[in-house]
Amino acid sequence: MKRLAKWRLFPLFTALALILSGCGEPYLSALRPAGEVAERQLWLMKLSTWIMVLVILVVTVIFLIVLFKYRRKHDKEIPKQVEGNHALEIIWTVIPIILLLILAVPTVADTFHLADVKEMDKKNKDGTRDALVVNVRASLYWWEFEYPDQKIVTSQELVVPTDERVYFNLKGSDVKHSFWIPAAGGKMDTNTDTVNKMWLVFDSKKAEEAGDLFYGKCAELCGPSHALMDFKVRAVPRDEFEQWVASMQDVKEPAKPETADAQAGQEIFNKSCIGCHAVTPANTTPEAARQGPNLTDFGDRTRVAGILEHNEENLKNWIKDPDKYKPGNLMTGAYGELSEEQLDQLAAYLMGLKVQD
Ligand code: CUA
Repeated sequence: MKRLAKWRLFPLFTALALILSGCGEPYLSALRPAGEVAERQLWLMKLSTWIMVLVILVVTVIFLIVLFKYRRKHDKEIPKQVEGNHALEIIWTVIPIILLLILAVPTVADTFHLADVKEMDKKNKDGTRDALVVNVRASLYWWEFEYPDQKIVTSQELVVPTDERVYFNLKGSDVKHSFWIPAAGGKMDTNTDTVNKMWLVFDSKKAEEAGDLFYGKCAELCGPSHALMDFKVRAVPRDEFEQWVASMQDVKEPAKPETADAQAGQEIFNKSCIGCHAVTPANTTPEAARQGPNLTDFGDRTRVAGILEHNEENLKNWIKDPDKYKPGNLMTGAYGELSEEQLDQLAAYLMGLKVQD
């Protein structure tokens, strides 16, 4: 009876697995690669899986043959003894070595290829670099993306050109996090004391299929809102990327609010928020307001706080009670309570922070 009870949930889980596997966002899986790095890694996963399957199949078949064909029929006969049989011992030593070599050669080759970040250090005569470099900084439940050569900073939504290598310097500002864009490549830790480097490529065709938007996650348990530490990747053609960079660089001063509400919102922002959140992109010095996400292009984003649908209602709810949506986040309690009217004004201001039309 007990055993039956244990299996009672089995059909339920089977059904759930079936139904839930249909959900989820497109291109949020390492099994749907959208760039060279992810493709190579998937190929390695397939190679090792096929080798394992092959070994299991061969061993199972031999096992079954032996089980049935050489079953003991008479008690008197002692089977032929094979210990110390050189031929057999060589066979079962050499086969695993061959299998390991088949696994090792492409794995080692790809490991070196994927770890090749020499391009990051190459400087032209005028001091510029051809490689596009992004400094990623992970903080408790949000992400900052600094483009050191373009001298701009943004947060929560990484913007990258498609079909070329993008190089990353990864760092954590408080605890260890892990930078992961499943569709583009494997995860890598953002440590607090060292900088990890990696590169990724975003395929233009796959980006188009994904609506130019890939999903990024934190992949290292970092606190109560670890699972909510999402970011987005807008992978766009090179010229569009350059336009975005130029329009970000154009923002020398905080954007002028267009309505009276937004104007009032800016005043609240300047009193309560600006110490942590910058609204200009050039905050590349560490002492600048970088305790919270840079909001220069907040109005252009696709999510509020990385997780909520991008609308004023969600923005107001988020500001009202951040802890409800991301428990343990550092914005909670950082400012006094705001009235409904103030929230409306603040939301109007923030939603108006756009660099693209
Ligand atoms: Cu940051 Cu998990």
